[in-house]
Amino acid sequence: MAIPAGFRDELVARCDIVDVVSDYVTLTPKGGSYWGLCPFHGEKTPSFHVLPDRQLYHCFGCGKGGGVISFIMDVENLPFPDAVRLLAKRAGMEVPEENLDEGSRRKRGRLLELNKEAARFFHSQLHSPQGAEGLAYLQKRGLTRGVMTRFGLGFAPDSWDSLLLAMTQKGFSKGDLLAVGLVVSNKKGGFYDRFRNRVMFPIIDLRGDVIGFGGRVLGDGTPKYLNSPDSPVFNKSRNLFALNLAKNTKQGHLILTEGYMDTISLHQAGFDCAVASLGTSLTGDHAKLLSRFAKEVILCYDGDTAGIRAADRAIPMLERTGLKVRVLRVTGAKDPDEYIKTYGREAFARLLDQSQNYVDYNLRQLQEQYNLEEPMQRTEFARAGAELLSQLDSPVEREVYAGQLAQTSGVGKQAILQEIKRCRGQRLWQAKRKQARRTLTPVNQVQPKNRQLRYENPRSARAEEGVLRLLMLDSSLEKGVAGLTPEQFSSPVLGKIYGALLAHLAQGRTLQLGALEGELEGAEIALLADLLGRPASLENGAAALADCRAVIEDEARKRDSDENDDAVLMAARDNYRKKKTI
Ligand code: UTP
Ligand code: MN
Repeated sequence: MAIPAGFRDELVARCDIVDVVSDYVTLTPKGGSYWGLCPFHGEKTPSFHVLPDRQLYHCFGCGKGGGVISFIMDVENLPFPDAVRLLAKRAGMEVPEENLDEGSRRKRGRLLELNKEAARFFHSQLHSPQGAEGLAYLQKRGLTRGVMTRFGLGFAPDSWDSLLLAMTQKGFSKGDLLAVGLVVSNKKGGFYDRFRNRVMFPIIDLRGDVIGFGGRVLGDGTPKYLNSPDSPVFNKSRNLFALNLAKNTKQGHLILTEGYMDTISLHQAGFDCAVASLGTSLTGDHAKLLSRFAKEVILCYDGDTAGIRAADRAIPMLERTGLKVRVLRVTGAKDPDEYIKTYGREAFARLLDQSQNYVDYNLRQLQEQYNLEEPMQRTEFARAGAELLSQLDSPVEREVYAGQLAQTSGVGKQAILQEIKRCRGQRLWQAKRKQARRTLTPVNQVQPKNRQLRYENPRSARAEEGVLRLLMLDSSLEKGVAGLTPEQFSSPVLGKIYGALLAHLAQGRTLQLGALEGELEGAEIALLADLLGRPASLENGAAALADCRAVIEDEARKRDSDENDDAVLMAARDNYRKKKTI
């Protein structure tokens, strides 16, 4: 890790966890700690816990936990170094790595500059004789000059090296061209332009930097679209086409399409809130990104089976981020672009108005699985539909949809409401049972859900957890573990954490959960946060530590003599059997 340990310690010390978490979660103080609604999973009663004295957070619901850096990594969906940078900025500190790593920072700047120059080059080609064909293509697809300029569209000439020459003339190296994927190298070590004879769509991030390109063939060739490969400046699964424009919309929602052309068409028709994923299916990162800019997303995928399947995948992902989702189905055209061209913008605006919330959409999807000509299938459909509707929290909504379902299925509305009630009752009962189980379990025995660990030796593991806890809470207990090695731990994970703690202590660093982040993996940090989050009394710390240590050493000794033990055990068992039979 390029970020020096000393800096991390300082950063963690300066970023109070309650302070940082409060930017994202409303926290209520209760007995020395804070509670709030977990930002990582949907919940109605708070199980998200922040302990200021231990500088950690922990959710009893979903098991997420850690220190201040983990929190930022999780909530902002950032990799470790970026989370550190964000926190540093917040605390007004300068990340030393950024000075040391001037090299890679400069490289990034250079690559972005190169992309920008390339976009300029492609755009200028569009309005030159070499680009006539490209311009004609875009015009044929109905795009106005204004939109071509707004999106910075361009044309890559039908040549192996026109971009390569233009960019090297401007002083960019072949290595940089290769790094952003604008050129490809052949086996002989030569380079040639990746994009040839294609209209070019620059992909621009929220800061306005050109991070990559999509290029479309002029006719029916393959691949239809060629995209920049992921590079140090481009990541398909974290960026969306046209979000740089759509983020300023006043519409209050975003329209998510599948294609560059769909999005551009929508913008041209005045729907300035359209974005597209970049030739990949929607990712959790995309969903999170969208949720930063809108409360509602209208899915507007192609009408074919692939589009419907993609929407089915996307809906739960979007909902998980708290976004409201509506689904717009284009009929009579293969995609939104064609729809607008054929029926006009008013017709599309009507579709948008009528776009269904996901209940309607799901009901329709469900309906298509049944042959409603047959009475048996109709009842089946009504039953499955009722199950679906039972998930709605609003009684009014349930009532309305029950009426709708009654009509399509031909089953009486009362019967459907009855079935909904039954499903709800069942779900409620299950939830209650779960809740009861949870409240009956003492806090310190709650197993976080993400804990996939099953300890091989629970007795030793409990003692090992104890050692970690005690050391973290009071590192002056360090003397008490002198000579106890990570290898004596029965659990490899706990042993690894213990090793990390020892290393910190050896460097004279204080043990802070936040400062261990980046050295331990997310699951390990969460485990540690869980251990530290349990109620503790430190009155007899030294004695407790000695007890734990004794157990660990005892179990380790047993493991060492396992073979002997096994032999003894077998002999004893044989003896016992003999006795029994005699
Ligand atoms: P479509 O095949 O639906 O293309 O792919 P489209 O958007 O309707 O394009 P036009 O209207 O024919 O020009 C949807 C998206 O999938 C990605 C692109 O991002 C495209 O916009 N895609 C498609 C690729 O990356 N590569 C391909 O070969 C095809
Ligand atoms: Mn299309």
